[in-house]
Amino acid sequence: HHYVAIMAGGIGSRFWPSSRTGFPKQFLDILNSGQSLIQWTFDRFAAFIPVENIYIVTSEEYIDITQKQLPQINPENILAEPSRKNTAPCVAYISFKLLQKDPEASLIVAPSDHMVLDNEAFRKITMQALDFAGHIKSLVTLGIKPTHPNTGYGYIQHEPLAVAEGIYKVKTFTEKPNLELAKTFLASGDFLWNAGIFVWKVKTVVKAFENHQPEMFELFDGEKENFNTPREKEAINRIYPLCTNVSIDFAILEKAENVYVIPSSFGWSDLGTWNSAYDNLEKDYLGNAVAGENVVVIDATKCMVSAPNEKLVVLQGMDDFIVVDTKDVLLICKKEKEQQIKEYVAEVKRSK
Ligand code: GDD
Ligand code: MG
Repeated sequence: HHYVAIMAGGIGSRFWPSSRTGFPKQFLDILNSGQSLIQWTFDRFAAFIPVENIYIVTSEEYIDITQKQLPQINPENILAEPSRKNTAPCVAYISFKLLQKDPEASLIVAPSDHMVLDNEAFRKITMQALDFAGHIKSLVTLGIKPTHPNTGYGYIQHEPLAVAEGIYKVKTFTEKPNLELAKTFLASGDFLWNAGIFVWKVKTVVKAFENHQPEMFELFDGEKENFNTPREKEAINRIYPLCTNVSIDFAILEKAENVYVIPSSFGWSDLGTWNSAYDNLEKDYLGNAVAGENVVVIDATKCMVSAPNEKLVVLQGMDDFIVVDTKDVLLICKKEKEQQIKEYVAEVKRSK
């Protein structure tokens, strides 16, 4: 009864300009490892979950790329969303589908774009979460010890006493706080980052939709007979335009009562931004991380440079910059402003 849903419909806008709407970062080999992030994610799960129980949920426009990068997966396990509605509808879709097929199903929901260094520790913790969620009607998330006041994450505070070995009831869940709040959370020493990896029985999460997102629940529930039939695609095409655009974090985790967390450590890193790529790449003696063969760096410090093309790129005298050269776009941006890359992209699109 163990299933995995890999969410792969995001556009990775903070990784612009390498990540594009037409070819987002989960399909890129951001760290020059020989595999794209989604291939890495798939292998991590295929090591302990049967391949026929692994699903990918993504945008219609990424179906071809997904099939190409993951030929091991039965195309029926690659679910297409007709529009981008963030992660709550994505989770509702796979959960209603599995509920119809296997009412006792337990599901791991995972992003497609994270790095995990210790696969064995990751397996142990997710198995522990599956075991707990199989017995207790709970929404289990994995928590990571925070290192800086990142405003791109969810923050979790838990009760002091464990309810089972290493598992704690969540007191508060705050998705993407502002910087001031993130600093307070970090200073208190009481908070964990939400890794964005969730484990639950599909029954339990569907109940949570019923309680906290009744409209979305009704939309999916009203079409449930059509799941796993030739009418599924039409049903999804009817549901999606009516769904609110909201993440699972805001829609369910901030609101639900029965959320639990397992403080985890398995070499997790969200390859969400250029700074996180910087953290995970090797640096030269002045602290520059360079991805690309044709780059010359002179008297520069702590720069993140990605220039994987043939063009020669020369950098001089820059400190703490992100420099990304692609075929048609060159980005030069202060490292500290990386959360704003999203906004620049929107601005560029508007002015075009
Ligand atoms: N199928 C589908 N459809 N997938 C989507 C969609 C969608 O509309 N939108 C995003 N995704 C995928 C992304 O590709 C990514 O793999 C995953 O869902 C998470 O989405 P992000 O957009 O990357 O979320 P986030 O990083 O801002 O925040 C989440 O992850 C953080 C940790 O990395 C939250 O769960 C935070 O609480 C968490 O701290
Ligand atoms: Mg992310």
